[in-house]
Amino acid sequence: MPVVTTRVTDLIGQTPLLELAATDTGTRLFLKLENMNPTGAAKIRMARAMVDDAEARGLLRPGGHIVESTSGNTGLGLAVVAAERGYRFTAVVDNHACRDKLRAMKAMGAELVFVADDGDDGLATSAREDLAERLAREECDAARRAGLEPNTYFTEQHNNDANAVGYHPLADELLTDLGRVDVLISAVGTGGSMFGTARRLRELGHEPLLFGVEPVGSIAFGGPAGPYWQSGTGTPEGADPGKIVAEDLELLEEGLKVSDIDAFAAARVLAAKRGLLIGGSAGGSVVAALERLTEFPPGSVVVTIVCDGGEKYLDTVFDDDWMSDRDLLDARAETTVAELLDRYAPTHDAATRDAARRAANTHAILVPSAVPDSIGAAGK
Ligand SMILES: Cc1ncc(COP(=O)(O)O)c(C=O)c1O
Repeated sequence: MPVVTTRVTDLIGQTPLLELAATDTGTRLFLKLENMNPTGAAKIRMARAMVDDAEARGLLRPGGHIVESTSGNTGLGLAVVAAERGYRFTAVVDNHACRDKLRAMKAMGAELVFVADDGDDGLATSAREDLAERLAREECDAARRAGLEPNTYFTEQHNNDANAVGYHPLADELLTDLGRVDVLISAVGTGGSMFGTARRLRELGHEPLLFGVEPVGSIAFGGPAGPYWQSGTGTPEGADPGKIVAEDLELLEEGLKVSDIDAFAAARVLAAKRGLLIGGSAGGSVVAALERLTEFPPGSVVVTIVCDGGEKYLDTVFDDDWMSDRDLLDARAETTVAELLDRYAPTHDAATRDAARRAANTHAILVPSAVPDSIGAAGK
Protein backbone atom coordinates (compact mmCIF):
# COMPACT_ATOMS: atom_id res chain seq x y z
CA MET A 1 0.00 0.00 0.00
CA PRO A 2 1.45 3.43 -0.89
CA VAL A 3 2.38 5.67 2.04
CA VAL A 4 0.70 8.66 0.43
CA THR A 5 -2.25 8.27 -1.90
CA THR A 6 -4.90 10.41 -3.55
CA ARG A 7 -7.89 8.05 -3.30
CA VAL A 8 -9.58 6.48 -0.32
CA THR A 9 -10.01 3.21 -2.22
CA ASP A 10 -6.22 2.92 -2.50
CA LEU A 11 -6.33 2.32 1.26
CA ILE A 12 -8.34 -0.89 0.89
CA GLY A 13 -6.59 -4.07 1.96
CA GLN A 14 -3.19 -4.90 3.46
CA THR A 15 -5.02 -5.13 6.77
CA PRO A 16 -3.03 -6.32 9.80
CA LEU A 17 -3.28 -9.56 11.72
CA LEU A 18 -3.68 -9.84 15.46
CA GLU A 19 -2.69 -13.07 17.19
CA LEU A 20 -5.52 -13.49 19.66
CA ALA A 21 -4.90 -16.92 21.06
CA ALA A 22 -2.40 -19.76 21.11
CA THR A 23 -2.69 -23.25 22.57
CA ASP A 24 0.16 -25.21 24.11
CA THR A 25 -0.12 -27.56 21.13
CA GLY A 26 1.10 -24.73 18.92
CA THR A 27 -2.25 -23.84 17.34
CA ARG A 28 -2.55 -20.10 16.83
CA LEU A 29 -5.64 -17.98 16.19
CA PHE A 30 -5.15 -14.89 14.04
CA LEU A 31 -7.72 -12.18 13.49
CA LYS A 32 -7.62 -10.56 10.06
CA LEU A 33 -8.53 -7.03 11.04
CA GLU A 34 -10.73 -6.04 8.13
CA ASN A 35 -12.17 -3.32 10.34
CA MET A 36 -8.99 -1.42 9.40
CA ASN A 37 -10.30 -0.87 5.86
CA PRO A 38 -11.91 2.46 4.93
CA THR A 39 -15.56 2.27 6.22
CA GLY A 40 -14.35 -0.06 8.98
CA ALA A 41 -15.46 -3.17 7.13
CA ALA A 42 -14.39 -5.94 4.75
CA LYS A 43 -17.25 -5.26 2.37
CA ILE A 44 -15.55 -2.32 0.71
CA ARG A 45 -13.34 -4.89 -1.01
CA MET A 46 -16.28 -6.42 -2.82
CA ALA A 47 -18.04 -3.07 -3.36
CA ARG A 48 -15.09 -1.88 -5.43
CA ALA A 49 -14.85 -5.24 -7.23
CA MET A 50 -18.55 -5.14 -8.21
CA VAL A 51 -18.22 -1.62 -9.63
CA ASP A 52 -14.98 -2.49 -11.45
CA ASP A 53 -16.73 -5.49 -12.98
CA ALA A 54 -19.82 -3.49 -14.05
CA GLU A 55 -17.60 -0.86 -15.66
CA ALA A 56 -15.53 -3.51 -17.46
CA ARG A 57 -18.74 -5.03 -18.86
CA GLY A 58 -20.05 -1.63 -19.98
CA LEU A 59 -23.03 -1.81 -17.62
CA LEU A 60 -21.96 1.31 -15.74
CA ARG A 61 -20.59 4.37 -17.47
CA PRO A 62 -19.76 7.91 -16.36
CA GLY A 63 -22.76 9.55 -14.74
CA GLY A 64 -24.35 6.17 -14.00
CA HIS A 65 -26.54 5.12 -11.07
CA ILE A 66 -25.73 2.26 -8.67
CA VAL A 67 -28.57 0.61 -6.73
CA GLU A 68 -28.07 -1.93 -3.95
CA SER A 69 -30.01 -3.51 -1.12
CA THR A 70 -27.82 -3.32 1.96
CA SER A 71 -27.74 -3.71 5.70
CA GLY A 72 -24.98 -1.11 5.71
CA ASN A 73 -21.43 -2.24 5.10
CA THR A 74 -21.87 -2.97 1.38
CA GLY A 75 -23.64 0.37 1.09
CA LEU A 76 -20.80 2.15 2.87
CA GLY A 77 -18.30 0.65 0.46
CA LEU A 78 -20.42 1.53 -2.56
CA ALA A 79 -20.90 5.07 -1.23
CA VAL A 80 -17.12 5.55 -1.15
CA VAL A 81 -16.64 4.17 -4.67
CA ALA A 82 -19.59 6.18 -6.02
CA ALA A 83 -18.29 9.38 -4.44
CA GLU A 84 -14.84 8.85 -5.93
CA ARG A 85 -16.08 7.99 -9.41
CA GLY A 86 -18.99 10.41 -9.63
CA TYR A 87 -21.86 7.91 -9.64
CA ARG A 88 -25.24 8.38 -8.04
CA PHE A 89 -25.86 5.70 -5.41
CA THR A 90 -29.17 4.58 -3.97
CA ALA A 91 -29.11 2.26 -0.96
CA VAL A 92 -32.31 0.35 -0.25
CA VAL A 93 -32.33 -0.20 3.51
CA ASP A 94 -34.52 -1.27 6.42
CA ASN A 95 -34.79 -0.02 9.97
CA HIS A 96 -32.95 -3.11 11.25
CA ALA A 97 -29.73 -1.54 9.91
CA CYS A 98 -27.63 0.16 12.50
CA ARG A 99 -28.15 3.93 12.66
CA ASP A 100 -24.50 4.81 12.28
CA LYS A 101 -24.17 2.86 9.03
CA LEU A 102 -27.18 4.72 7.61
CA ARG A 103 -25.89 8.09 8.81
CA ALA A 104 -22.43 7.48 7.35
CA MET A 105 -23.85 6.36 3.98
CA LYS A 106 -25.89 9.54 3.85
CA ALA A 107 -22.89 11.65 4.79
CA MET A 108 -21.04 10.17 1.82
CA GLY A 109 -23.81 11.16 -0.59
CA ALA A 110 -25.92 7.99 -0.76
CA GLU A 111 -29.68 8.32 -1.22
CA LEU A 112 -31.45 6.09 1.29
CA VAL A 113 -34.73 4.40 0.35
CA PHE A 114 -36.44 2.63 3.26
CA VAL A 115 -38.30 -0.53 2.43
CA ALA A 116 -40.81 0.19 5.21
CA ASP A 117 -41.30 3.65 6.64
CA ASP A 118 -43.56 2.58 9.50
CA GLY A 119 -40.74 2.34 12.02
CA ASP A 120 -40.74 -1.48 11.84
CA ASP A 121 -37.20 -2.48 12.86
CA GLY A 122 -37.44 -6.03 11.51
CA LEU A 123 -34.84 -7.44 9.13
CA ALA A 124 -36.38 -7.12 5.64
CA THR A 125 -33.68 -8.57 3.38
CA SER A 126 -36.07 -10.12 0.88
CA ALA A 127 -38.34 -7.06 0.55
CA ARG A 128 -35.26 -4.83 0.24
CA GLU A 129 -33.89 -6.86 -2.62
CA ASP A 130 -37.22 -6.89 -4.45
CA LEU A 131 -37.46 -3.11 -4.16
CA ALA A 132 -33.85 -2.52 -5.29
CA GLU A 133 -34.38 -4.79 -8.29
CA ARG A 134 -37.61 -2.97 -9.18
CA LEU A 135 -36.09 0.51 -8.84
CA ALA A 136 -33.18 -0.39 -11.12
CA ARG A 137 -35.38 -2.22 -13.64
CA GLU A 138 -37.88 0.62 -13.92
CA GLU A 139 -35.08 3.14 -14.47
CA CYS A 140 -33.50 0.96 -17.17
CA ASP A 141 -36.90 0.51 -18.86
CA ALA A 142 -37.50 4.27 -18.81
CA ALA A 143 -34.09 4.87 -20.41
CA ARG A 144 -34.82 2.34 -23.15
CA ARG A 145 -38.22 3.92 -23.82
CA ALA A 146 -36.42 7.26 -24.23
CA GLY A 147 -34.06 5.63 -26.74
CA LEU A 148 -31.10 5.74 -24.36
CA GLU A 149 -28.78 2.99 -23.23
CA PRO A 150 -29.52 2.14 -19.58
CA ASN A 151 -26.89 3.33 -17.14
CA THR A 152 -28.40 2.09 -13.89
CA TYR A 153 -26.88 -0.98 -12.27
CA PHE A 154 -28.26 -3.16 -9.48
CA THR A 155 -25.10 -4.65 -7.96
CA GLU A 156 -27.13 -7.51 -6.41
CA GLN A 157 -24.43 -8.69 -4.03
CA HIS A 158 -26.07 -12.06 -3.34
CA ASN A 159 -25.80 -13.10 -6.98
CA ASN A 160 -22.77 -11.20 -8.19
CA ASP A 161 -19.60 -13.18 -8.98
CA ALA A 162 -17.48 -10.09 -8.36
CA ASN A 163 -18.50 -10.19 -4.68
CA ALA A 164 -16.38 -13.28 -3.97
CA VAL A 165 -13.66 -12.17 -6.39
CA GLY A 166 -13.29 -8.98 -4.35
CA TYR A 167 -11.82 -11.08 -1.52
CA HIS A 168 -9.10 -12.80 -3.56
CA PRO A 169 -6.52 -10.21 -2.44
CA LEU A 170 -7.44 -11.01 1.17
CA ALA A 171 -6.31 -14.60 0.60
CA ASP A 172 -3.11 -13.38 -1.05
CA GLU A 173 -2.40 -11.18 1.98
CA LEU A 174 -2.92 -14.12 4.36
CA LEU A 175 -0.44 -16.25 2.48
CA THR A 176 2.10 -13.44 2.30
CA ASP A 177 1.82 -12.77 6.02
CA LEU A 178 1.30 -16.27 7.43
CA GLY A 179 2.65 -18.64 4.79
CA ARG A 180 -0.34 -20.92 5.16
CA VAL A 181 -3.89 -21.14 6.49
CA ASP A 182 -5.03 -24.45 7.97
CA VAL A 183 -8.43 -23.40 9.29
CA LEU A 184 -10.65 -20.52 8.16
CA ILE A 185 -13.58 -19.79 10.43
CA SER A 186 -15.75 -16.85 9.52
CA ALA A 187 -19.22 -15.34 9.22
CA VAL A 188 -21.40 -16.19 6.24
CA GLY A 189 -24.03 -13.85 4.80
CA THR A 190 -23.74 -13.77 1.02
CA GLY A 191 -20.71 -16.03 1.51
CA GLY A 192 -18.51 -13.62 -0.45
CA SER A 193 -15.84 -13.07 2.19
CA MET A 194 -15.61 -16.69 3.37
CA PHE A 195 -15.79 -18.46 0.01
CA GLY A 196 -14.01 -15.78 -2.01
CA THR A 197 -11.06 -16.10 0.35
CA ALA A 198 -11.29 -19.90 0.43
CA ARG A 199 -11.55 -20.25 -3.37
CA ARG A 200 -8.44 -18.16 -3.90
CA LEU A 201 -6.53 -20.13 -1.25
CA ARG A 202 -7.49 -23.33 -3.05
CA GLU A 203 -6.41 -21.84 -6.39
CA LEU A 204 -3.00 -21.29 -4.80
CA GLY A 205 -2.77 -24.87 -3.57
CA HIS A 206 -4.01 -24.40 0.01
CA GLU A 207 -7.06 -26.25 1.29
CA PRO A 208 -7.91 -25.01 4.77
CA LEU A 209 -10.69 -26.60 6.79
CA LEU A 210 -13.62 -24.21 6.43
CA PHE A 211 -16.04 -23.44 9.25
CA GLY A 212 -18.87 -21.06 8.37
CA VAL A 213 -20.63 -19.17 11.15
CA GLU A 214 -24.18 -17.83 11.07
CA PRO A 215 -26.52 -16.57 13.78
CA VAL A 216 -28.94 -18.96 15.46
CA GLY A 217 -32.17 -18.28 13.53
CA SER A 218 -30.41 -17.85 10.18
CA ILE A 219 -31.30 -20.48 7.59
CA ALA A 220 -28.34 -20.94 5.23
CA PHE A 221 -27.03 -23.98 7.15
CA GLY A 222 -30.53 -25.30 7.86
CA GLY A 223 -32.24 -25.45 11.23
CA PRO A 224 -35.21 -23.50 12.53
CA ALA A 225 -35.63 -19.89 11.44
CA GLY A 226 -35.95 -17.13 13.99
CA PRO A 227 -35.13 -13.51 14.66
CA TYR A 228 -31.57 -12.44 15.42
CA TRP A 229 -29.77 -9.20 16.15
CA GLN A 230 -26.35 -9.87 14.61
CA SER A 231 -26.11 -7.35 11.80
CA GLY A 232 -24.84 -7.82 8.25
CA THR A 233 -24.60 -11.60 8.45
CA GLY A 234 -26.68 -14.74 8.07
CA THR A 235 -29.82 -15.30 6.04
CA PRO A 236 -33.19 -14.55 7.63
CA GLU A 237 -36.30 -16.57 6.88
CA GLY A 238 -37.75 -15.78 3.46
CA ALA A 239 -34.45 -14.51 2.04
CA ASP A 240 -32.26 -16.38 -0.40
CA PRO A 241 -28.57 -16.62 0.55
CA GLY A 242 -27.78 -16.46 -3.17
CA LYS A 243 -25.51 -18.20 -5.61
CA ILE A 244 -22.21 -18.15 -3.68
CA VAL A 245 -23.70 -20.05 -0.75
CA ALA A 246 -25.62 -22.35 -3.13
CA GLU A 247 -22.43 -23.25 -4.99
CA ASP A 248 -19.90 -23.36 -2.16
CA LEU A 249 -21.73 -24.49 0.97
CA GLU A 250 -20.48 -28.03 0.30
CA LEU A 251 -16.91 -26.81 0.85
CA LEU A 252 -17.67 -26.30 4.54
CA GLU A 253 -16.34 -28.76 7.06
CA GLU A 254 -19.18 -27.57 9.25
CA GLY A 255 -21.72 -24.75 9.42
CA LEU A 256 -21.81 -23.39 12.97
CA LYS A 257 -24.62 -21.49 14.66
CA VAL A 258 -23.83 -18.84 17.25
CA SER A 259 -26.45 -17.15 19.42
CA ASP A 260 -26.65 -13.36 19.72
CA ILE A 261 -25.81 -13.75 23.41
CA ASP A 262 -22.52 -15.58 22.74
CA ALA A 263 -21.55 -13.43 19.74
CA PHE A 264 -22.17 -10.17 21.60
CA ALA A 265 -20.50 -11.47 24.78
CA ALA A 266 -17.35 -12.12 22.74
CA ALA A 267 -17.39 -8.64 21.20
CA ARG A 268 -17.90 -7.01 24.61
CA VAL A 269 -15.22 -9.04 26.38
CA LEU A 270 -12.68 -8.46 23.60
CA ALA A 271 -13.28 -4.74 23.93
CA ALA A 272 -13.04 -4.74 27.71
CA LYS A 273 -10.11 -7.15 28.09
CA ARG A 274 -8.03 -6.51 25.00
CA GLY A 275 -9.13 -3.06 23.83
CA LEU A 276 -10.28 -4.44 20.48
CA LEU A 277 -13.61 -3.10 19.24
CA ILE A 278 -15.19 -5.56 16.80
CA GLY A 279 -18.73 -6.03 15.50
CA GLY A 280 -21.23 -8.63 16.67
CA SER A 281 -20.88 -11.02 13.74
CA ALA A 282 -17.10 -11.03 14.16
CA GLY A 283 -17.73 -11.72 17.86
CA GLY A 284 -19.65 -14.83 16.74
CA SER A 285 -16.73 -16.07 14.65
CA VAL A 286 -14.25 -15.38 17.43
CA VAL A 287 -16.20 -17.29 20.08
CA ALA A 288 -16.75 -20.19 17.67
CA ALA A 289 -13.00 -20.31 16.99
CA LEU A 290 -11.98 -20.04 20.67
CA GLU A 291 -14.33 -22.86 21.63
CA ARG A 292 -12.80 -25.21 19.05
CA LEU A 293 -9.12 -24.30 19.13
CA THR A 294 -7.97 -27.52 20.74
CA GLU A 295 -10.03 -29.64 18.32
CA PHE A 296 -7.87 -28.53 15.39
CA PRO A 297 -4.70 -30.45 14.57
CA PRO A 298 -1.75 -29.30 16.74
CA GLY A 299 0.20 -26.46 15.18
CA SER A 300 -2.75 -25.21 13.10
CA VAL A 301 -2.78 -21.69 11.72
CA VAL A 302 -6.37 -20.59 12.32
CA VAL A 303 -7.76 -17.41 10.77
CA THR A 304 -10.96 -15.52 11.54
CA ILE A 305 -11.99 -12.56 9.41
CA VAL A 306 -13.10 -9.58 11.51
CA CYS A 307 -15.80 -8.40 9.10
CA ASP A 308 -16.29 -5.06 10.78
CA GLY A 309 -15.39 -2.94 13.78
CA GLY A 310 -17.47 -2.25 16.87
CA GLU A 311 -17.71 1.53 16.50
CA LYS A 312 -21.00 1.15 14.63
CA TYR A 313 -22.55 -0.82 17.48
CA LEU A 314 -21.92 1.47 20.44
CA ASP A 315 -25.69 2.10 20.68
CA THR A 316 -26.50 -1.59 20.59
CA VAL A 317 -24.01 -4.39 21.38
CA PHE A 318 -21.95 -2.14 23.66
CA ASP A 319 -24.93 -0.44 25.32
CA ASP A 320 -26.03 -2.22 28.49
CA ASP A 321 -29.59 -0.86 28.35
CA TRP A 322 -30.11 -1.90 24.74
CA MET A 323 -28.71 -5.31 25.57
CA SER A 324 -30.75 -5.91 28.71
CA ASP A 325 -33.98 -4.63 27.08
CA ARG A 326 -33.57 -7.55 24.68
CA ASP A 327 -32.43 -10.11 27.27
CA LEU A 328 -29.03 -10.32 25.63
CA LEU A 329 -26.85 -9.38 28.61
CA ASP A 330 -25.44 -12.57 30.04
CA ALA A 331 -22.68 -12.49 32.66
CA ARG A 332 -22.08 -16.23 32.34
CA ALA A 333 -21.49 -16.01 28.59
CA GLU A 334 -19.05 -13.15 29.14
CA THR A 335 -17.19 -15.08 31.84
CA THR A 336 -16.86 -18.07 29.50
CA VAL A 337 -15.28 -15.89 26.78
CA ALA A 338 -13.00 -14.21 29.31
CA GLU A 339 -11.81 -17.60 30.56
CA LEU A 340 -11.10 -18.80 27.02
CA LEU A 341 -9.11 -15.64 26.30
CA ASP A 342 -7.10 -16.09 29.49
CA ARG A 343 -6.49 -19.77 28.87
CA TYR A 344 -5.13 -19.17 25.38
CA ALA A 345 -3.47 -15.81 25.90
CA PRO A 346 -0.48 -15.73 23.57
CA THR A 347 2.86 -14.59 24.96
CA HIS A 348 3.06 -10.83 24.58
CA ASP A 349 6.49 -11.08 23.10
CA ALA A 350 5.57 -13.23 20.14
CA ALA A 351 9.08 -12.98 18.70
CA THR A 352 10.58 -14.51 21.85
CA ARG A 353 7.93 -17.21 21.90
CA ASP A 354 8.56 -18.01 18.21
CA ALA A 355 12.30 -18.18 18.79
CA ALA A 356 11.75 -20.55 21.71
CA ARG A 357 9.51 -22.76 19.55
CA ARG A 358 12.04 -22.73 16.72
CA ALA A 359 14.78 -23.68 19.17
CA ALA A 360 12.64 -26.52 20.48
CA ASN A 361 11.98 -27.79 16.96
CA THR A 362 15.63 -27.43 15.95
CA HIS A 363 16.66 -29.49 18.92
CA ALA A 364 14.13 -32.20 18.26
CA ILE A 365 14.83 -32.50 14.55
CA LEU A 366 18.51 -31.74 14.10
CA VAL A 367 20.29 -33.32 17.02
CA PRO A 368 19.92 -36.99 16.03
CA SER A 369 21.26 -36.49 12.49
CA ALA A 370 23.82 -33.83 13.46
CA VAL A 371 25.75 -35.94 15.93
CA PRO A 372 27.82 -38.97 14.98
CA ASP A 373 25.89 -42.24 15.21
CA SER A 374 27.97 -43.55 18.06
CA ILE A 375 27.35 -40.51 20.26
CA GLY A 376 23.72 -40.43 19.21
CA ALA A 377 23.29 -44.07 20.09
CA ALA A 378 25.09 -43.60 23.40
CA GLY A 379 22.88 -40.75 24.21
CA LYS A 380 19.68 -42.73 23.71
C1 LIG B 1 -20.88 -7.24 9.70
C2 LIG B 1 -20.62 -8.36 8.73
N1 LIG B 1 -20.92 -9.61 9.07
C3 LIG B 1 -20.70 -10.64 8.23
C4 LIG B 1 -20.14 -10.46 6.99
C5 LIG B 1 -19.98 -11.61 6.06
O1 LIG B 1 -20.78 -11.36 4.94
P1 LIG B 1 -20.60 -12.05 3.55
O2 LIG B 1 -20.83 -13.51 3.76
O3 LIG B 1 -21.69 -11.42 2.74
O4 LIG B 1 -19.26 -11.77 3.01
C6 LIG B 1 -19.78 -9.17 6.60
C7 LIG B 1 -19.06 -8.96 5.35
O5 LIG B 1 -18.09 -8.27 5.27
C8 LIG B 1 -20.03 -8.09 7.48
O6 LIG B 1 -19.72 -6.82 7.15
